[in-house]
Amino acid sequence: MTIAPAGTSGSLEQDDSRSDRLVLEKPRTRRQRPSSQRSGTNFEMYSWIFMRMSGLLLVVLVLGHLLIMNILDGGVNRINFSFVAGRWASPFWRTWDLAQLWLAMLHGTNGMRVIINDYAERDGTRFWLKMLLYTSSFLVLLLGTLVIFTFDPNI
Ligand code: HEM
Repeated sequence: MTIAPAGTSGSLEQDDSRSDRLVLEKPRTRRQRPSSQRSGTNFEMYSWIFMRMSGLLLVVLVLGHLLIMNILDGGVNRINFSFVAGRWASPFWRTWDLAQLWLAMLHGTNGMRVIINDYAERDGTRFWLKMLLYTSSFLVLLLGTLVIFTFDPNI
């Protein structure tokens, strides 16, 4: 195989007609994606930004959660039904827990989507792993949201 920079006249290699000739693009050439991969939207860029933004919010939400539930005021030993009922009497804590659930699930699911895309090589494997991921994430989000909105302290 011959390696030659794109645009060179090939003084070292005269036989340009060989089919296995590898052409290296100039370093600043814009990358052209195959038309099948051009979606028109910038989904992967927004996904990249979302991972950073949700990560920042999760630091506050998760560390706050950890501190309140596991460390302050006797920690995990005081958590029982009435503790949860008292906490969820406040819309603030319900919103906190809802935001934590949604952000962690969307962040974790999107992270797993990237890992599956990176490591699962066969189309079928990639497709089914992602279906499994999306289905389980949807169920967890649905059940978690339902619990937060329908929790009844008087049962
Ligand atoms: C506590 C605050 C968190 C921060 C600051 C954070 C930050 C990040 C960032 C910046 C990335 C992108 C890495 C990359 O693109 O290479 C990432 C990836 C990821 N995060 Fe988080 N994250 C947090 C919490 C979580 C939680 C709670 C979960 C699980 C529910 C999670 C699961 C993942 C997964 C699966 C990936 C993909 C890893 C990869 O691409 O190699 N993260 N995280």
